[in-house]
Amino acid sequence: MSIKTQKIFEAEFLLEDMREIIRKTSPHSAFSKDDKIQFNEKLKKLSEIVEELRTNKYTELKIKYITNGIELRTREEDFINIHPIQAAGRLTLEARKALISYGDGYSTCDWCRKPFRLDKIHRPPIDEFHSELAEFVGMDQARVVPGARRGFQAVVSSLIEKGDSVLLSAISHYTEFLAVEDSGGTVKEIPLNEKNIVTADATVQKIEDVKKNTKKLPKLIMLDHFDYMFGNEHDVYGIAKVANEYDIPFLYNGAYTVGIMPVDGKKIGADFVVGSGHKSMASVAPSGVLATTDEWASKVFRTTQMVGDITGRKFGIKEVEMLGCTLMGGTLISMMASFPKVVERTKHWDDEVKKSNQFLDEFLAVEGSKVISEYPRKHTLTKVNTTESFDKIAKTHKRRGFFLSDELRKRGIVGEFAGSTRTWKLNTYGRTWDQIKYLGHAFIDIAEKYDVPVKANKQGQYSGDV
Ligand SMILES: Cc1ncc(COP(=O)(O)O)c(C=O)c1O
Repeated sequence: MSIKTQKIFEAEFLLEDMREIIRKTSPHSAFSKDDKIQFNEKLKKLSEIVEELRTNKYTELKIKYITNGIELRTREEDFINIHPIQAAGRLTLEARKALISYGDGYSTCDWCRKPFRLDKIHRPPIDEFHSELAEFVGMDQARVVPGARRGFQAVVSSLIEKGDSVLLSAISHYTEFLAVEDSGGTVKEIPLNEKNIVTADATVQKIEDVKKNTKKLPKLIMLDHFDYMFGNEHDVYGIAKVANEYDIPFLYNGAYTVGIMPVDGKKIGADFVVGSGHKSMASVAPSGVLATTDEWASKVFRTTQMVGDITGRKFGIKEVEMLGCTLMGGTLISMMASFPKVVERTKHWDDEVKKSNQFLDEFLAVEGSKVISEYPRKHTLTKVNTTESFDKIAKTHKRRGFFLSDELRKRGIVGEFAGSTRTWKLNTYGRTWDQIKYLGHAFIDIAEKYDVPVKANKQGQYSGDV
């Protein structure tokens, strides 16, 4: 851990210690003698740290654990993190600040008034945020949900009955499977073509197969715009059109799109748009969005009809699939705080794709390294195959596949699948151009260290810079 990072955390924790004394002595901060001593001690330590930071001269490292075996997490401060699922869930500065203030349990509920539902709260402007979210994904209505998976579950549970078929792709995420299983439905998979892409033609074929075999049409089609295995783009426009022609509702899974690239659900022809807050919207987990049209809202966001048999109690406005309220604290606040930046960043998706390709241009200079995702890339999530490059070193290295992780870590890079030197995934989302160059350079540097051939025009290009 870098000493500077350590000191920043130390300072933040001292401020929290002081905040704790203020909380304990609310409402008037009436400090006892002991509180005053404690407060001033913390303040003194804080001044010392500020001085250390100012002069760039530090005392020894102190904190490893925050508490109870929980290590200080400094991946995003001390490393370039290329973890395939973490890149676009990294919090914005605004979300981190908001979280400090809204970390308490039901923190968003201070101003919850009649009719007592999360999406109706004005302060903070949660109601407005819901409208903005719907607009952001080009739909009529939206709700925040605890992860994309809960969005799938709400839709599937509303539409599917025992024995109904649901079309998913042969590369769909497991959470879509589980949502269907939970409802008693049956998954039917649309096969991939030779390029690992789901096409409209394959969808038509599968619909016809299901119709022939079950005598019924599928009740729902769910499709990931970009899948989690390759980060390949699938034909959501074509498949939504097919779904509309057969009058089958279409769920657009934007776990890898909503929050990083422009998504217009109605333009796509989707009935439902699902996104993941912690994967692609710079938000705390578990968070996500489920958006739909006015037409479907009455079904998926239906309100409770249940009446208690003894008490006669009713909970009129609560939505059944949402179990009333969903994200009631730090999760929602982080989504809201990040939202303006998230909206802005989707306008620069082309740059992210350019950076992804720029990095891979360097990465592929290491002879034997391959991209198994579609290439050139249309996304920042990429599956690579280094069986013919780095895995050859792993075969004889005493650390086996972990040698690559060790070498990357030494260069300040984490997030690869530790120990894996054959096929693995990485994500360059949100990195600066300098970081992108540094990343590409690091792989070339490692190859050169172990005498793996590097294409002539890249060889030695960066020597000595890492
Ligand atoms: C394609 C895809 N869909 C859905 C999910 C589930 O998202 P969440 O964690 O928000 O429920 C994931 C998560 O990895 C995913 O990759």
